Amino acid sequence: MSARDDSTAAARWRRLVTGRLAELDCLSPRAGSLSGSFWDGGRAERYAKHTRITDAGKDPFLRRLRRVTDASSSAIDVGAGTGRYALALASGVGQVTAVEPSAAMLAVLRSQAEQLQVANVATVQATWEDADVSRADVAFSSFVLALVPHAGPFLEKLDASARRRVLLYLGAFSADAVLDPLWRHFHDVPRAPAPTYLDALAVLRELGIEPTAKVVEIPNDRRFESIADAVEHYRDALLLTDTAAVRRELEELLGAWLLGRKGALRSPLRTAAAAILEWRPRH
Ligand SMILES: C[S@@+](CC[C@H](N)C(=O)[O-])C[C@H]1O[C@@H](n2cnc3c(N)ncnc32)[C@H](O)[C@@H]1O
Repeated sequence: MSARDDSTAAARWRRLVTGRLAELDCLSPRAGSLSGSFWDGGRAERYAKHTRITDAGKDPFLRRLRRVTDASSSAIDVGAGTGRYALALASGVGQVTAVEPSAAMLAVLRSQAEQLQVANVATVQATWEDADVSRADVAFSSFVLALVPHAGPFLEKLDASARRRVLLYLGAFSADAVLDPLWRHFHDVPRAPAPTYLDALAVLRELGIEPTAKVVEIPNDRRFESIADAVEHYRDALLLTDTAAVRRELEELLGAWLLGRKGALRSPLRTAAAAILEWRPRH
C-alpha cells in the first residue's frame, strides 16, 4: 500500500486509487491495465450485457443527461466504455464524442452503434488525459474517475472541455460493503478502501468547483443464469484464484445468499446508490 499522504484532497484521492490498483495488481497480476487489456478476453462483452439500460426512463443519469441537452447539443462521454450513455443519448442530441482507451470496449461500442443505426457518435481511442477533442456543450464521465489516480488534471480538462455543463457519475454505496464479509472470509484482511463521491467532492472544491450532488438509486437488474455464473462473477469481483476449492466454497456461500431460481438468480439488493455531481464550467 502507498504511504499515507492526506495533506490535500487530491493527495488522499491519489493514495486511495493507487492503493486499490496495487491490490488488484497483487491479487490478479495478469488482470492488465484498467484503461486497456483488463477489458479484453470477453470482459467488455460481459460488461455491456450487465450494464445494458433496460428502461431508459428509469436510469437516473440518462434522465439527467437528457434534461441538460437538446437536439442541437454536442456532448463528450469520457471513458465511454461500451457506450451505454453515449448511444442512449445520441438520438436526442446533435453529436456525441465517445473517448475510450480500451480497444475491446470500443469494439463493442462500435458494433452496438451499427446495430442501432446510430450515426452521430464519433469515437476517439485515447485516455482522457491524452485525448485531443474539441469542446462540447456538455462533458460527462460515468464510473471512470475512481480508476484515475491524478483526479485534478482529469477534472480540470473535463471542466475546460464543456461550454455549458459537466456531469460526473460515481458509486455512492460501495459494492465493497456488500462483498466485505466474503472478501474477509477469503483474504483474511479488509479490502483496500476505494475513494467515494465525497472524496471527489473534496477534490473538486480544492479546484474551486462547487458542484451540486444528488444521490440516486440504480435498479439492480443483474440476473445469473446459474449458480456457476454467479460463482464466476463473484470470484472475479473478489479477485480470487480459480481453483475447485474456491468455487466450491463460493457456491456454498452464494447458495445461501442469492434469491430466485435457476435462470434468474439475483442478489437480495434491489438497488445500489450512485451520486451525480454536476456543475457549470468555470470559464
Ligand atoms: C467501469 S467502465 C465505465 C464505462 C462507461 N462510462 C459506463 O458507465 O458504462 C470504466 C471505463 O473507463 C475507461 N478508462 C479508464 N481509465 C481512463 C482514462 N484515464 N481516460 C478515459 N477512460 C478511462 C476504461 O477503459 C473503461 O471503459
